Amino acid sequence: MASNIIRSLLVAVLAASASAAAIPGVKATNNTTNSTAMLPLSSDDSFSYELLRTVSLSRSYGADTAEVLQAAGSIIPGNLESFSGAFHKLANHVYAQALAINKTEDPVTAREAFFRASTYFRSADFYLHGNASDPRLVTLWANQTDAFNSAIALLPIAGKRITLRAADNSFEIPCIYYRATGANATHPRATVILGNGYDGAQEEMLHATGFDALARGYNVITYEGPGQPTVRREQNLGFITEWETVVTPVVDYLTTLPEVDAAKIGLFGYSMGGWLAVRAAAFEHRLAAVWAVDGLYSVFQPYYNALDPSTRALWDAGNYSAFDAEVNFYLNSGLAPTETLWSLQQGVWSFDVSTVSEFLRKAEPMTLDGIAQQVGCPVWIGAPSEDIFFPGQPEQVRDALQPGLASYHYLTAADAAQNHCHVGAMAYVNGLVYDWFEEVINNRS
Ligand SMILES: *[C@@H]1O[C@H](CO)[C@@H](O)[C@H](O)[C@H]1NC(C)=O
Ligand SMILES: *[C@@H]1O[C@H](CO)[C@@H](O)[C@H](O)[C@H]1NC(C)=O
Ligand SMILES: *[C@@H]1O[C@H](CO)[C@@H](O)[C@H](O)[C@H]1NC(C)=O
Ligand SMILES: *[C@@H]1O[C@H](CO)[C@@H](O)[C@H](O)[C@H]1NC(C)=O
Ligand SMILES: *[C@@H]1O[C@H](CO)[C@@H](O)[C@H](O)[C@H]1NC(C)=O
Ligand SMILES: *[C@@H]1O[C@H](CO)[C@@H](O)[C@H](O)[C@H]1NC(C)=O
Ligand SMILES: *[C@@H]1O[C@H](CO)[C@@H](O)[C@H](O)[C@H]1NC(C)=O
Ligand SMILES: *[C@@H]1O[C@H](CO)[C@@H](O)[C@H](O)[C@H]1NC(C)=O
Repeated sequence: MASNIIRSLLVAVLAASASAAAIPGVKATNNTTNSTAMLPLSSDDSFSYELLRTVSLSRSYGADTAEVLQAAGSIIPGNLESFSGAFHKLANHVYAQALAINKTEDPVTAREAFFRASTYFRSADFYLHGNASDPRLVTLWANQTDAFNSAIALLPIAGKRITLRAADNSFEIPCIYYRATGANATHPRATVILGNGYDGAQEEMLHATGFDALARGYNVITYEGPGQPTVRREQNLGFITEWETVVTPVVDYLTTLPEVDAAKIGLFGYSMGGWLAVRAAAFEHRLAAVWAVDGLYSVFQPYYNALDPSTRALWDAGNYSAFDAEVNFYLNSGLAPTETLWSLQQGVWSFDVSTVSEFLRKAEPMTLDGIAQQVGCPVWIGAPSEDIFFPGQPEQVRDALQPGLASYHYLTAADAAQNHCHVGAMAYVNGLVYDWFEEVINNRS
């Protein structure tokens, strides 16, 4: 009984989760062609999406195509350990390559190898959060950080780690700052603040969009707040609703830098970061522009919508113990798709709680209800046509903002940009994002 309920429940659902949408319609099981379907990288939708996400960093030094496809060949659909193991092996291999290079003599070669190794250590960690005491959560993160630090030290202008503090001193905000070439006090530059979402690291942001920002002459700073990889691990803090408490110290810091044009600061939120960024902008009014890639109005609502009627009734009745029993029964049944299993495990881990109901209760206040009107700057909103998890959400963000502030972009398979976060299509999407930023900041000045 319970199993039937839950089976129909979360299934198509929680899957896509805040970050890892499946790639619907990609199952090319016969030889009928379909020009709007993308070739999958695994028969497991979640693995296929995460493999695409990883291989997509190849265009910006974070991976290499054949290395990822080679690792993918040994991954067993539905087997989380096999995913981790394949990337751990690859990470160690590429890290050993990096160490063998004399970085004084061949800094570019060493840098690129360290960047790739770092990405692969992160991929090895991705599916392990179901057990918060798994020691690999610590060691793999130490490895990704170590490899990334070796890489950014070898950039033409070295990336610099900075630790800021929340105004009330209750937590630390780890950041990495990348000054643009040619930026100085007499030629201050526009600057972008890059934040990830439900499951991604600030290191990923350099590859996903940071290098494209630097190429356009912007200074770049990435950061993490509570719930995000380093803060969750080192400070034991789960996600919080008051995201402006994370962003405001970053803006404060930027305004102290002579090479930063304080009138031209943009905030980029990736995945669930699309919610975090707009939330922060409702309270932090020094931002010139915000990107929600993609638009998310309520963090909780997509999970709620995905519940089947009887499980939703338990939630509505506030019967959380029965709710968790149903969910756990399903997750332990072996029938849950990887997306569902991963997304709920990641929710429990990243919100630093022990049950799915606690996670969802903490997510419930994360809405733009009543605050979207307080945003005072233009907002670029992405809406991927095949994001099965957030349907309707980008439109809600668009409609809640003050008139004239939303720049809404429906992105489809015609541009290969249909997936959650447009992974694999960031050459195109970053072009849209930064060309729009030019318009915004030039009209202002
Ligand atoms: C083709 O792929 C698209 C996108 O995945 C999907 O929506 C559509 O149903 C597919 N069409 C057919 C005929 O399978
Ligand atoms: C592929 O198409 C050919 C020609 O239409 C057909 O004979 C064959 O059975 C198809 N194969 C599959 C796997 O659908
Ligand atoms: C092949 O795929 C198409 C498009 O998804 C579908 O309409 C058709 O029924 C499939 N044919 C077979 C034999 O599976
Ligand atoms: C790396 O190259 C530099 C410059 O040629 C050299 O001084 C140094 O000894 C080399 N390091 C190693 C470990 O070979
Ligand atoms: C979690 O990992 C720890 C350390 O490896 C292990 O001792 C523990 O049994 C694991 N817990 C579960 C529920 O698998
Ligand atoms: C990964 O980190 C662990 C713990 O710090 C360390 O023992 C191990 O040597 C590291 N591996 C690599 C490849 O750096
Ligand atoms: C500042 O940067 C500009 C180029 O962006 C350069 O022409 C100028 O010499 C620099 N000024 C100083 C003081 O370094
Ligand atoms: C919660 O639901 C369970 C299972 O349906 C039921 O046995 C229990 O009485 C409910 N508890 C409350 C307080 O309603």
